[in-house]
Amino acid sequence: MVIAIDGPAASGKGTLARRLAVHYGLPHLDTGLLYRAVAMALIDEDRSLADPDAAASAARTLDAGSLDDPRLRDRQMGEAASIVSAVPAVRAALLDWQRRFAGAPGGAVLDGRDIGTVVCPDAPVKLFITASAEERARRRHRELGGRGEAAAYEAVLDDIRRRDARDAGRDAAPLVVAADAVVIDTTALDADSAFRAATDIIDGRR
Ligand code: C5P
Repeated sequence: MVIAIDGPAASGKGTLARRLAVHYGLPHLDTGLLYRAVAMALIDEDRSLADPDAAASAARTLDAGSLDDPRLRDRQMGEAASIVSAVPAVRAALLDWQRRFAGAPGGAVLDGRDIGTVVCPDAPVKLFITASAEERARRRHRELGGRGEAAAYEAVLDDIRRRDARDAGRDAAPLVVAADAVVIDTTALDADSAFRAATDIIDGRR
């Protein structure tokens, strides 16, 4: 069973994906980490994020071992990831990797922006997790504060809006709701309620 989860930044899709993976005993891939790792490789090598050839080459030589680096979760890395993720050659280089993961015997849970539309278009379960920009900014603001990376709420809201516009507006695999995805709006849902809504949908399909 492949569970494809998409949605905008800080929608709660990562937390939900992790819980679903544990619940159903499936491996989980947070695909945002791949794009963050490409951005981090460029930053570490002092290369420009706006150089598509450098970004593509970083994606082709990505070291899966670097996906544990805590710096990947930094605020600037999400922003940088959304710049390199608009490069078609970067997306192409990461596609096989993601599909191999999804092809694990028994299935997998993947979360990102284009899982249900591009990476796993045949996934039997597709969820699109969303929430208002303000609520997502509140969550991200709290999470950053908890990690000692304090930022003004307004700045976090600006980040979220800029990232939404970039992810939805790009030509390559833009953030859209797959035609056969079920939308869960978590603006007024806590993590437990979102989890219950998701398992109701998934169990109904099995
Ligand atoms: O999900 P996360 O915030 O970690 O993703 C960082 C950035 O990576 C996103 O803003 C998006 O631009 C990009 N991304 C993507 N496709 C995915 C996952 C993430 O383009 N499947």
